[in-house]
Amino acid sequence: MTNPQFPSGAPVPESPAPASPPDGPIHWDLLPDTSAVTGDGHLSVGGVDLVQLAEEVGTPAFVYDEDHLRARCREAVAGFGPGVAYATKAFLCKAMAALALEEKMALDVSTGGEMAVALAGGASGEHLVCHGNNKSSEELAAALRAGVGRIVVDSFDEINRLRALVTAGLTSGSVGRRTRLLVRVTPGIEAHTHEFVKTGQEDTKFGFSLASGAAAEAADALRGLADFELVGVHAHIGSQIFEVSAFVEEIAALVPFVVENRFSECCIGGGLGVAYVEGEVAPSITEWALAVHAAARTAGLPQTVRLTAEPGRAIVASAAVTLYRVGTIKRLPGLRCYVAVDGGMSDNPRPVLYGSGYEAFLPRAPLAPRPLCTRVVGKHCESGDVIVDDARLPSDLVVGDVLATPVTGAYGFAMSSNYNRVLRPPVVFVSDGRHRVVVRRETEADLLACEA
Ligand code: LLP
Repeated sequence: MTNPQFPSGAPVPESPAPASPPDGPIHWDLLPDTSAVTGDGHLSVGGVDLVQLAEEVGTPAFVYDEDHLRARCREAVAGFGPGVAYATKAFLCKAMAALALEEKMALDVSTGGEMAVALAGGASGEHLVCHGNNKSSEELAAALRAGVGRIVVDSFDEINRLRALVTAGLTSGSVGRRTRLLVRVTPGIEAHTHEFVKTGQEDTKFGFSLASGAAAEAADALRGLADFELVGVHAHIGSQIFEVSAFVEEIAALVPFVVENRFSECCIGGGLGVAYVEGEVAPSITEWALAVHAAARTAGLPQTVRLTAEPGRAIVASAAVTLYRVGTIKRLPGLRCYVAVDGGMSDNPRPVLYGSGYEAFLPRAPLAPRPLCTRVVGKHCESGDVIVDDARLPSDLVVGDVLATPVTGAYGFAMSSNYNRVLRPPVVFVSDGRHRVVVRRETEADLLACEA
């Protein structure tokens, strides 16, 4: 990675990230891998000047570093083997599905909609792992028609729906083999993360409890289903988890169940955290995979069992920055400086939903000190519409500047909305000095497309 903070071959410090002064420039580790400084002092990603790109494609815009995405996919494949699934809920469009497939990942889809986009992006059924805590009969039937690789079964009602599909003769799909099933279990692990994204604990809508015996009961029922083959166990303990010890505990809880049932597959789900702001340190995908494999050996997982995962955020989060244009700067004496941009909670609801922290910087001056304390807000009609609560920016900030927030590649575009009938931003991939718009900006005609 090009790193102007540590120039001329000086070693780039490993984590923990060095604390820069609070008014220092944006920390380089938060930026996409191919970030560099142009001759004009601007930030480029994938060899594309972000200030010029904002002129060309407009703002707001999600800009993804394609090389960064590919590097993270390769790391996941190196760590867990080909067929490790990318959790498409983090960020999905046809181009992303195609990229993950090219890099030998499978795709985790959790709704009929995600399945449709993945298939349109070039996936065959075999590439897909079907999730969901409330899959409809229609979604299950569509998955079987597509010849999905695996279904992760989440409830007794779903088992009843699968049984009904067998009875209706809709399960002997097009693929000439029985469809593989995994049983999703709750291992009883409390991961240290936001309440809304914890899933491993007993009190949850997801999966079957190991402790209560529900998981064993579900496995017995699934073994009795004609046209299906129960191959393994699945768990997902939560998201944005920084401590690999939580995954070690998860493995320890899963392995006895795998052994008892003579399963051939064990999937630990996703959940690896990423750094959003300076000072946060997350394990790399490689470190995560090594810790998981070591834990599996310690817990006695047979070597023959396929140990796999489905990372989402860790693949895409820090690959992207969002580009906005500053529209107003409001200085309230003795209170605060509000900087309003042309997007907001419709393109990044995470600060409002989870209180998530972000940083901001100006792509025209990525190395500039940021002494100005501001709150970066959007254009929506409520006070909670905050993008960066406590943003540091250069003191020469002016209306019209392009402002960027890094680490917006996961659950931003994916959770974007048309609140206030705002148009969703485009998604732009950059690589080798070129950009391509992979999802165009919405238009007012799109807003009206579904209306009678
Ligand atoms: N597998 C399953 C079954 C999942 O439910 C999830 C995420 C993943 C994999 C991928 O997890 P990741 O590696 O991305 O942490 N909207 C929230 C995150 C919700 C995660 C839901 N499930 C956020 O913006 O933080």
